[in-house]
Formats: sequence, C-alpha cells, structure tokens
Amino acid sequence: MANKKILIIGGGVIGLGIGWQLAKSGASVTIYEQAKAGRAASWAAAGMLAPLAEAHTEEPELLKLGCQSLALYPQWAQELEADAEMSIGYRVEGTLIVGLEPDDTHQLRHLYASQQDLGLDVEWSTGRAAREIEPALSPRVTAAIRCESDHQVDNRLMVEALGRAYQRYGGVLCESSNVERIVIESEVVTGVQTQESFQAADVIILAAGCWSAQIEGLPDAILPPVRPVKGQMLALQMEDGITIKNVIRTVRARYPTSVYLVPRTDGRLIVGATSEEMGFDTRLTAGGIFELLRGAWEAVPGIYELPLLETWTGLRPGSRDNAPILGETPIENLIYATGHYRNGILLTPITAYEISKLILTGKTSETIAPFALDRFLA
Ligand code: FAD
Ligand code: GLY
Repeated sequence: MANKKILIIGGGVIGLGIGWQLAKSGASVTIYEQAKAGRAASWAAAGMLAPLAEAHTEEPELLKLGCQSLALYPQWAQELEADAEMSIGYRVEGTLIVGLEPDDTHQLRHLYASQQDLGLDVEWSTGRAAREIEPALSPRVTAAIRCESDHQVDNRLMVEALGRAYQRYGGVLCESSNVERIVIESEVVTGVQTQESFQAADVIILAAGCWSAQIEGLPDAILPPVRPVKGQMLALQMEDGITIKNVIRTVRARYPTSVYLVPRTDGRLIVGATSEEMGFDTRLTAGGIFELLRGAWEAVPGIYELPLLETWTGLRPGSRDNAPILGETPIENLIYATGHYRNGILLTPITAYEISKLILTGKTSETIAPFALDRFLA
C-alpha cells in the first residue's frame, strides 16, 4: 500500500475523513476538490447525530449503521481533536421531538410505538415535562419524545479539523481542481482527467456528494444513483432568556415542513430544513425561509426577538434508497463513498474507518457489505 497512489474525488466530510485515515496509515493520498474543501453539503448541514430521531422502520440497515457510527463519535472526536488541535463542538445533550396540537400528538405516538418496536432508547414525555427540560418551549407543546442518545457536532468545525488533520499527515489537497473524467481501461481504473492534465492513480475513491453521477467516464450501468435534494437553512443568535441546550425537532401533522433547532456552543441557533427536489438549484426562497421561521417560532416563540445571522442552502446527496453507497464497484480499484443523503455527518466516522480499512486490507467488512453498489445492479 505504501507505494500505491490513492486519489479521492471530493473534499467534503466523506473525502476528507477517508483521506485523513489513509494518510495517517502512511498511504500516499491526493484529494481533488472542484471548489473549496468542505464548503458544499458538509458546510450546509445542521450537524445532528440523530439515528433515532430520523429512524424509519422500513430502513433497519441504515438505522443500524447510524447507531454504529454514533457509537464511534466519542473516539472519533477525541482522535480528530488531538490530530487537528482544535475542538469540533461535539455535544451530548440529546434531542426532543415535540408536537404542538392533538394531531401532532397522534403522529408522535405512532413514531414512539415504531421506535419502541425497534428497541430504541427513547422516552415519552408530557408537554410540561418537556418544558422543564427546555423552558423556552411553547406552552402549546402537547407531548414529546426524548432521544437522549441523539447528539450533535459542529460540522463546520469538523470540516476544518479534517482538513488540518489530513494535511498534517502529508495528505495533498488540490482545491479549485475539477475532475472532468474518470479514466477506465479494460475494466480497471487508471486515473482521472482534471481540467489541466491526466493524473494516474492505483485507487480512486468517488466521494463527490450529489455530483457523483455527473463525472464523465463511468459506464451507465454503474453510475451511482445519487441526486441533489435541496435544504434551506438559517441561523439565529441566541440571547439572554432564549437559550436552548437540546436539539429540538417538531412533528407537524398538518404542515409541509417540520423543523429542527440546533443550538451551537458559540450561541448560534441553526434552524432547518426544507427538503426539495429542485435539481441543482440552490436559490433561497421566501416560502422556504417563511416555513422555517414559522415552524421554529411555533415551537419556541421567543425566537421572534432574535437577530437573524445567516441564511443558506445545501444539496444533500440523496441515493435511491436513502442509504449511502459504500465499497467496491465492478470496475477494479474504483471505490464509492457517496449518497449519504440526510446523515452524512453522522455517518462520517464509520465511512472513514471502514473505507480506509477496505483499501488497506482489500477486504469489505460485514458492516458496509449491505451498502455496496451491487444492491442497485440488475
Ligand atoms: P459534500 O460535502 O457535498 O462534498 C462533496 C464535494 O465534492 C464537494 O465539496 C464538491 O465540490 C466536490 N466535487 C463534486 N464534484 C467534483 C468533481 N468533479 N471534481 C472535484 N470535486 C468535486 N447530515 C447529518 O448527519 N446531520 C445533519 O444534521 C444534516 N443536516 C443537513 C442539512 C442540510 C440542509 C443538508 C444539505 C445536509 C444535511 N446533512 C446532514 C447531510 C450531510 O451534509 C451530507 O450527507 C454530507 O455532508 C455529505 O458529505 P459529502 O462529503 O459526501 O458531500
Ligand atoms: N439531517 C437533517 C437534514 O438533512 O436536513
């Protein structure tokens, strides 16, 4: 492995995370990033580490992977913070899923029942008990589910830390370098064509987020089924009287947008997110921001007074079954690590550890085997 040249396409959390682990093992790694590393979905995210709150009964494999990755976070945060010599804002306060009217309570009960069927560590709470935990919650909150083990990380700090840790171990980061084509000869990948030149490589890892199917050179049959799913977000500045410690998510049976509020250690309160099938359109809309503000204000009325700091959009790399696409492909030495959709920040540790292990040992672990591309192949 020491002599092999590894090339990663995409410098988001996934590319940087894998790159860091490989460079740390002594491998020769270069990341090609078309813009600035860590500024796409990985920058836009809310940083929730929420396998329980986002659990769907019909996605048991994804839930298991999310829980495994969450369990790695304390070790991951410690290792990354030590290598990067900076904090990544990992917080363990937990998540409250709240309802605001009787219809929402019914929906919450349904969610709670399915979480219990899955054996998840969740707790039912009355509206009053929820307000004791978070006094800023509206008196309208009827009931809540407490997910104590769903945590959060500051994803913007995490991408900065990953960039530092990766380069500290000799990883090469080429920014403003667009990979135009993946070059394949006789079913073996040989390198990439950037806008400047051909770059030979022994292993190529495709970690280009929602752009992963846009790069030329891949045969149609193995194009990763990944598409962009737009999310609009905003940040408020918490002030005296309105401080929130837990992540708060709403369940709204009658509204199109449920929201989440994620408190950061620096006082920012992240509010998200819309979920829109709009292709690569990244425009903010009045309606999107209105829905977020309305949803957040209904749950926490005091936000009305808070300064609005920032608005932005991001594109989630959504796969056809919402789960990531991880591991080997029918093309020799071409590895996929893409399609992390709504959970890419949560899934970064397990992706980085497992994909780097695959490249170093040549063996796909049982952990990631269910997420291989072949589940989509005829
Ligand atoms: P990206 O961060 O998008 O990185 C891909 C990189 O590849 C980009 O930097 C891009 O410029 C580069 N690239 C693309 N094409 C090329 C090319 N041809 N050549 C070179 N470089 C290229 N996840 C959670 O776990 N928790 C959350 O709370 C959460 N909230 C979210 C909220 C929003 C609004 C959004 C949009 C996402 C959220 N996510 C969340 C999902 C998470 O952000 C993503 O799953 C994750 O960031 C994907 O990481 P990535 O590295 O694959 O993609
Ligand atoms: N996981 C939160 C989001 O994708 O909006």
